[in-house]
Amino acid sequence: MAGILVTNSEGTPGVGRTAEMLAAGAGGLDAIEAGIRLVEADTSIRTVGRGGWPNLLGEVELDAAMIDGNTFRSGAVGALKGFLHPITIARQVLEQLPHEMLVGEGAARFAREIGAATSDNLIPDSERVWREWFAANVSEEDREKWPDVPLADLCQQAIDPEKGMDTTVFLSLDEQAEIMAGVSTSGWAWKYPGRLGDSPIIGAGCYADSRFGAAACTGAGEMTIRAGTSRAIVLYMKMGLSLEKAVDEAIDDLRQLRGGLIQRVTIHAIDKTGAHRVVAVNATEQLTYWLWREGDDAPHAEPVELVAL
Ligand code: GLY
Repeated sequence: MAGILVTNSEGTPGVGRTAEMLAAGAGGLDAIEAGIRLVEADTSIRTVGRGGWPNLLGEVELDAAMIDGNTFRSGAVGALKGFLHPITIARQVLEQLPHEMLVGEGAARFAREIGAATSDNLIPDSERVWREWFAANVSEEDREKWPDVPLADLCQQAIDPEKGMDTTVFLSLDEQAEIMAGVSTSGWAWKYPGRLGDSPIIGAGCYADSRFGAAACTGAGEMTIRAGTSRAIVLYMKMGLSLEKAVDEAIDDLRQLRGGLIQRVTIHAIDKTGAHRVVAVNATEQLTYWLWREGDDAPHAEPVELVAL
């Protein structure tokens, strides 16, 4: 077993910190939380934390989760508004509560209770792009009644204005042979208010089991929720499949989806031996991810494997 860290290109602001901490013997949850906090605070990453794209109403709603692969305790927050570090609030759900997930006003209430840092997450550039979208897509009549208008048609336009950028995902196998995962996102731009992606849904957006491995997904959470992708990969490994084949099976599960939002998904997976695989399904461009292995001086970028559904 050799320690490993896998994160996607959105993890750039935090990957060095997480790798340093793992190299120094830190536990995976601490190292992942520290790295994701840097991503959440970095406004150049437009799909995570502060600087993330807003929902249809122009409000930034954030989702995050962590899972401990030893205990299967998880913590998740969804549709959280006004806080800088959803990953830390998710971690505290894991540490302090008898629950696994809080959403909306309940998540905000808990964040206030633990003294979490608040933040105005809608940065001026995101507001400008949202206002341009609003002006181009909302009818004169609806503008007068806004926000008391039907949103169902408008959310068909949910997109990522920066194609290919997404949730940040971190997977680690640490010095203690423990496997952990953490994810954080602002979800799709112009999403229906209250929409949760896969990130806060344990088993869809991430899963970890120190006996076998971990997986985390980015892209269209609607697909990985339906296929239970992250849990499925770990379960396929438990059933005896190699990491390679477990990911192939999960891709095959995505291939069976009919109707609904079919888009791109990137799967990140590691196993207990320190092997890993990162595959983008339906990607329209070449992506990279970060890899750090115990003994490496620093993380390095690797090309993502591309597969069409
Ligand atoms: N994978 C992130 C989302 O669907 O929100």
